[in-house]
Amino acid sequence: MAESRGQWSGRMGFILAATGSAIGLGNLWKFPYITHENHGGAFVLVYIAMVLLVGFPIMIAEVLVGRRTQLSPVSAFRKLGKDKPGGALWAGVGFLGVLAGFSILSYYSVVAGWTIHYTWLSLTGELNRLAADPAGLQTYFGGEFLANGSQQVMYHLLFMGLTTSAVYFGVKGGIEKVAKILMPMLLLILLILVVYSSTTSGFNEALRFLFKPDFSSLTTGSILEALGHAFFTLSLGMGAMLTYGSYIGKDISIPRAAFQISLFDTVIALMACLIMFSIINSSDIDVSKSSTILFTTIPTVFAQLPAASFFNAIFYLLIGFAALTSTISLLEVVSSYAIDDLGWTRKRATITMGSVIAVFGVLNALSLGGNDSLTNINLVGRESTAGVFGTMDYLASNWFLPVGGFLIALFVGWIMGARDTFEELEKGHGYFSGYKIWHFLIRFVAPLAVGAIIVSVILGREYQ
Ligand code: TRP
Repeated sequence: MAESRGQWSGRMGFILAATGSAIGLGNLWKFPYITHENHGGAFVLVYIAMVLLVGFPIMIAEVLVGRRTQLSPVSAFRKLGKDKPGGALWAGVGFLGVLAGFSILSYYSVVAGWTIHYTWLSLTGELNRLAADPAGLQTYFGGEFLANGSQQVMYHLLFMGLTTSAVYFGVKGGIEKVAKILMPMLLLILLILVVYSSTTSGFNEALRFLFKPDFSSLTTGSILEALGHAFFTLSLGMGAMLTYGSYIGKDISIPRAAFQISLFDTVIALMACLIMFSIINSSDIDVSKSSTILFTTIPTVFAQLPAASFFNAIFYLLIGFAALTSTISLLEVVSSYAIDDLGWTRKRATITMGSVIAVFGVLNALSLGGNDSLTNINLVGRESTAGVFGTMDYLASNWFLPVGGFLIALFVGWIMGARDTFEELEKGHGYFSGYKIWHFLIRFVAPLAVGAIIVSVILGREYQ
């Protein structure tokens, strides 16, 4: 069974693929945007606390369930829940994950497709030409670009094609291989951009903004937003980490791996902020509050700096790479369901699921044109923006992921039994001295915190 499902070649393969899943548009787009909106410093600290106290323990829980069962989410919960209270109903947590993967991927890949177009625009110099007029890109992005349905569909399909091919070639031969090539390149590009941004005049101000906390600027809303984001950015709540964890061997320490993945993800999100704030600060351009800043303000400011085309191009390439390793993990969750539960071959599963999601995504791609709420497109948004795109995003980030995460924490903390979880966490680790702390976090802190998100969503999200 394990043979036909595939396995990572080793620890590094797993860490890179999982980090690849975690690092994505969430880190490079959403995080800088919400950090800016929530006034920096104190928000960053709260976010780091949320990653440590809620995200990291849930990541351990997901990987643990995956490795214990060597199955993808639906079958994994069905198997572990069988003789427990709730029984086969727990398989529902897996189904929720498949549904979340399906809906997130169908819009994520549309946005991811934009990076291909923008890399191209940078290389041809067109982006600089548009950016010469301060309002140029705003007009281009909101008008021409999003309204061009066939172009939107084309880039979306291209991105889905790339995603599907990677998943098609399997755990080791596809997913891991892509991660092993793209993740080092991503890091290299980020380092180049951080060094570059340190030469800009806005760098010190960016550092101060990020690391000098002002706690008076914190609101309940920002705390919940930090928590919600910690969830999305670590790819939790829908069994992505569970699925990747089902391909690891017994020789790997789950707590250590989960810690490294969380750390890596956080460091990269902070690097992304440093780059973007330095760039924005070094110009007197009025920062647009819009979440589309990545495709409007950033290139506009870039254009005023030396070697704009080059840096713009590697910047969009970076975002594209980060997005691809994330879309791969989303498709893997959906495909592995078909493989483990429906008994399909990997080839059949990836092509079928990839195509169905691609077709669905076309609706998202086409719903962008003429949409007035476009400047508010809010990946993992709290508000439901109009159109299919907004609805999918709203459902996934406000309902599927939090509810999924809540149930995963409940299951691992309360249903699975301490003996099983303890035993699994010791494999590949040795005596796990942090077990008691982890168990407390997964039983009490994580469900309460994630429960708070769900309650706030039910109450109408009017906490800002
Ligand atoms: N973590 C990714 C990001 O930050 C998005 C993502 C990929 C994701 N796979 C996921 C989110 C699974 C939730 C669940 O962009």
